[in-house]
Amino acid sequence: MSQDKDLDRRHALVCGASAGIGRAAALALASRGARVTVLARTQSALEAVIAQLEGAGARSPALLVADLDDRSALASKLDELIAWRGPVHILVNNAGGPSPGAVLEADEEAFLQAFGRHVLASHLLVRRLLHGMKEAGYGRIVNIVSTSVREPIPGLGVSNTIRGAMASWAKSVSRELPPGVTINNVLPGYTDTERLQALAARVGQESDRDRQAVIEGWIAAIPEGRIAEPRELGEVIAFLASPAASYVRGTSIPVDGGRMHGI
Ligand SMILES: NC(=O)c1ccc[n+]([C@@H]2O[C@H](COP(=O)([O-])OP(=O)(O)OC[C@H]3O[C@@H](n4cnc5c(N)ncnc54)[C@H](OP(=O)(O)O)[C@@H]3O)[C@@H](O)[C@H]2O)c1
Repeated sequence: MSQDKDLDRRHALVCGASAGIGRAAALALASRGARVTVLARTQSALEAVIAQLEGAGARSPALLVADLDDRSALASKLDELIAWRGPVHILVNNAGGPSPGAVLEADEEAFLQAFGRHVLASHLLVRRLLHGMKEAGYGRIVNIVSTSVREPIPGLGVSNTIRGAMASWAKSVSRELPPGVTINNVLPGYTDTERLQALAARVGQESDRDRQAVIEGWIAAIPEGRIAEPRELGEVIAFLASPAASYVRGTSIPVDGGRMHGI
């Protein structure tokens, strides 16, 4: 089967799809033929993403305006989505990252909110959508996490903590899913999105440098010599969602241009 059709007839729900890595995932999945439903809080931004979809999957896209922080509303919206569009076969768990800052400066609420948005929302989504994946004999769950699962990043205290929890949750889930339904984590390195630009500006303010100087400093530590384009993440996500990745399960795959030192 040619690669541009390998997700034909599959329904993909991409969370955090109005920008950055989530948007790139939606574009890559649609280009391979998946019927994409894009989820985020901002309707106009989702409409803009739908207008950019190309390929076989661009024929019948849909949007779902939902806040991953409001899980009771999310649960009913998911039920409505399944009733309207049928079962979801591919789930991309993705949301805005926790605010930066030193871990010892974070209050309890910051941890609770991040745990809810990432771990609890993903848990709800998987439990709600698993039945359809089982029935179809095909399920692909891809979590967008961070390289901080392996190497905590200074100044991202809450994020580092939550990413570890997310990776442990995903590994536990991977042991319980039935054959044909997989879960894997993608660990982005520095990727050129709104979040990255905002982070660079904040680090620059704190260290009296401009944003570009901060980004150049990051690039100096990356063997590939540049930060990633979101589409490079989208490609890996689409591979993990594809039939070709049928025996890849419970893994965490860095897409970081070789920045991490660990084996
Ligand atoms: N970019 C990087 O360099 C990098 C590196 C490592 C890890 N990551 C992680 O990868 C993930 C995606 O990063 P990104 O750079 O693509 O982020 P981004 O550009 O900030 O995009 C975040 C997306 O999530 C949506 N979102 C945020 N909060 C939400 C909520 N409560 N409910 C529903 N949707 C929500 C946003 O749309 P709305 O605001 O419209 O809801 C947007 O579509 C984040 O967890 C980030 O921390 C990124």
